[in-house]
Amino acid sequence: MKAGCSQLRPVVLIIILNLCFYPSYQLTELQICKLCHGLIQNDTAVGQFCVKSAGRTDGRCCLRNDNTTEPERIIGLDLSNCSLTHVEELQGASTTLMIDLSLNPIVNISDTAFQGFIQLNYVILPGELVCPGGNTSWQRVEVEKGNRLCEGQKNMCNQTGQLSLDCPENSLCTPYGPGFFECICADNHHGYKCLRAGEFPALQVFGPLGASTVVISFVLWVTQRRKAKSL
Ligand SMILES: *[C@@H]1O[C@H](CO)[C@@H](O)[C@H](O)[C@H]1NC(C)=O
Ligand SMILES: *[C@@H]1O[C@H](CO)[C@@H](O)[C@H](O)[C@H]1NC(C)=O
Ligand SMILES: *[C@@H]1O[C@H](CO)[C@@H](O)[C@H](O)[C@H]1NC(C)=O
Ligand SMILES: *[C@@H]1O[C@H](CO)[C@@H](O)[C@H](O)[C@H]1NC(C)=O
Ligand SMILES: *[C@@H]1O[C@H](CO)[C@@H](O)[C@H](O)[C@H]1NC(C)=O
Ligand SMILES: *[C@@H]1O[C@H](CO)[C@@H](O)[C@H](O)[C@H]1NC(C)=O
Repeated sequence: MKAGCSQLRPVVLIIILNLCFYPSYQLTELQICKLCHGLIQNDTAVGQFCVKSAGRTDGRCCLRNDNTTEPERIIGLDLSNCSLTHVEELQGASTTLMIDLSLNPIVNISDTAFQGFIQLNYVILPGELVCPGGNTSWQRVEVEKGNRLCEGQKNMCNQTGQLSLDCPENSLCTPYGPGFFECICADNHHGYKCLRAGEFPALQVFGPLGASTVVISFVLWVTQRRKAKSL
């Protein structure tokens, strides 16, 4: 996988980068815990959650081991009061249940910052920011003491009256973080819209933000490759 990446077109590369470097998440986990100075305080939301959840704090992370055969994972992340202006990737933190980004002069949160954060259930943001994925991605959205609280991530596969969230035939919809869902090809189907049957690795289509990009990139890649071949 790693070697193959460098041969792909840049557009595709950006999207696939995450997958290529997936194994390095273990290394980056510690970096995110040390991104901000200091330790989680026990009187903060994440601190109290960590005590209640019997977690261990490391820098600004609350870690817990739920499965002795797996490494410890991040269940809480407190990045409050850390002078953050942009939030792009929170690598290694996708297992977290809670994130506190309050008291930061944030001007921009990337649309995909919380993609894949399936278990994220509580987000604290500066009051002027919108919850990840918008109001419709959360059960409760409120402003309290100048902070915006986003509580209870909604399952995007179980929404009505919104964007058409239909996955292609032969695929199953699964949640993929606030505002995201993923269509996973059913057994023995693969390729564009899971239309081909056979034993190939499943193509995952991300949506709604990711879906069009993936498809367009793929089309670009195919056409470019054809051009290259015909030269
Ligand atoms: C928080 O930590 C301080 C000392 O580190 C301790 O005195 C205090 O009792 C703790 N509070 C809670 C609610 O655990
Ligand atoms: C622990 O992780 C292993 C490997 O991922 C998995 O097969 C097993 O079911 C997990 N056990 C529990 C209790 O979650
Ligand atoms: C934010 O951090 C600064 C130090 O960097 C500290 O002096 C200040 O008390 C902190 N504010 C809050 C509300 O924790
Ligand atoms: C936020 O980031 C996006 C791309 O990540 C960019 O297009 C947009 O202009 C940025 N907005 C601000 C206010 O910086
Ligand atoms: C989202 O919810 C908040 C709090 O209920 C509200 O103030 C805000 O206007 C809503 N935003 C949108 C775009 O609906
Ligand atoms: C789907 O949504 C309905 C109504 O909002 C809710 O009652 C139900 O529990 C949801 N199911 C799942 C699996 O989230």
